[in-house]
Amino acid sequence: MENLMEKIVSLAKRRGFIFPSSEIYGGFGSCYDFGPLGVEMKNNIKKSWWKEMTGNHENIVGLDAAILMSPQVWQASGHLTAGFADELVECKKCHHRFRKDFLKENKCSDCGGELTEPKKFNLMMKTFVGSLEDEAVTTYLRAETCQGIYLNFLNVLNSMRLKIPFGIAQIGKAFRNEITPGNFIYRTREFEQMEMQWFCHPKEADKFFDYWKKERMQWYLNLGIKKENLRMVEVSAKERAHYAKRQVDIEYRFPFGWHEIEGVHNRGDWDLSNHSKYSGKNLKYEDYYPYIIETSVGADRSFLTFLVAAFHEVKGGRTKTTEAKKEVEVLLKLHRELAPVKVAVLPLIKNKPELVKKAKEVYQMLKPYFTCQYDELGSIGRRYRRQDEIGTLWTITTDFDTLKYDTVTVRNRDTMSQERVKISDLVKVIDKKLRE
Ligand code: GAP
Repeated sequence: MENLMEKIVSLAKRRGFIFPSSEIYGGFGSCYDFGPLGVEMKNNIKKSWWKEMTGNHENIVGLDAAILMSPQVWQASGHLTAGFADELVECKKCHHRFRKDFLKENKCSDCGGELTEPKKFNLMMKTFVGSLEDEAVTTYLRAETCQGIYLNFLNVLNSMRLKIPFGIAQIGKAFRNEITPGNFIYRTREFEQMEMQWFCHPKEADKFFDYWKKERMQWYLNLGIKKENLRMVEVSAKERAHYAKRQVDIEYRFPFGWHEIEGVHNRGDWDLSNHSKYSGKNLKYEDYYPYIIETSVGADRSFLTFLVAAFHEVKGGRTKTTEAKKEVEVLLKLHRELAPVKVAVLPLIKNKPELVKKAKEVYQMLKPYFTCQYDELGSIGRRYRRQDEIGTLWTITTDFDTLKYDTVTVRNRDTMSQERVKISDLVKVIDKKLRE
């Protein structure tokens, strides 16, 4: 299973999905950069989530709040005090640091050394705002994006003339000084969250909690995640986040075990009442504090989920053409909404200028509509393999019939079946397939 993660990490780097950050300097603190295909796929995930929230549901509007906020926000939210700290232990021998709850035994998992007593370690990342160092304000990079939503609760309510219940959706960066980041992009110190906060009457909170739990599970299923690899776990009072009255974690079965990918929380009136208290502004709706049901997922963590779920190795190879046949071929079965490249255009052979010219014309025609690649290097079988490995949905080939009839072959990634389509119909045909 470890081996499987290694293969996925290696594919991600080799094919331009994810690179280690600051690599030429030896990397930096579990930070990662999304490459040309990675950024397309991550944008597709964010687009799908955004459409799900603001398009497929009633009464949800968007927001894009600043990362930097008044430091008082984090006093009020409880992140500087209450629960936003992990227990850190250090090995007395090799000085490696660990999150206590991640260790299976009371010994260092790296060298077996004795551990120090646990210390509380706050995860907020400090920063300074202002040009004069001694007058600069100390604040924090946001540890969750939703605080910007609570601060704008009245602005959004009034400017959009909304009534409760309604939701605010936001996507953006968050930062946590994690003690033990790891498992590739599963736990990092800089990540993106996709959060939706649903404001409702306290009496309706349980009903909406159940509703959002189901909706969120369905999103993963709709995007091709198998039911048997997903589960919901109700989190006990002792384990819950400091703001949560109720918490359900959606977990995915990764090669390294079952782990949380999304949290659905009933935050009660924790946030609005505390911000009212600390700011002196009345954040009540009519005469009560609305309860907040939150759905919160990492864009990076769901990226890893979709990548792991899509990764397939086909033993013995799929193509039967001799030059392309390999022991194992990789097929990335990404959902059509998420695949970073929708179509690739290939001339059947490179040394026929007419076929190359036609293929380039087709590529130029499709490019404004779909993410598209052009590839003429290597045998046709090999080029199909290269596209399967990055999850390209359809591979279009110009061949000798193209010159006679102005048609091309369209090959389906998963079935490898091919159909002939008139060049003049291609945009319409691909567009239709994308919506099927
Ligand atoms: N506003 C609620 C909140 O932030 P959370 O359970 O702490 O709740 C929600 O985080 C989601 O954000 C997680 O389920 C995960 O997908 C993502 N996330 C949290 N910490 C992360 C980290 N260090 N690296 C990557 N993703 C992270």
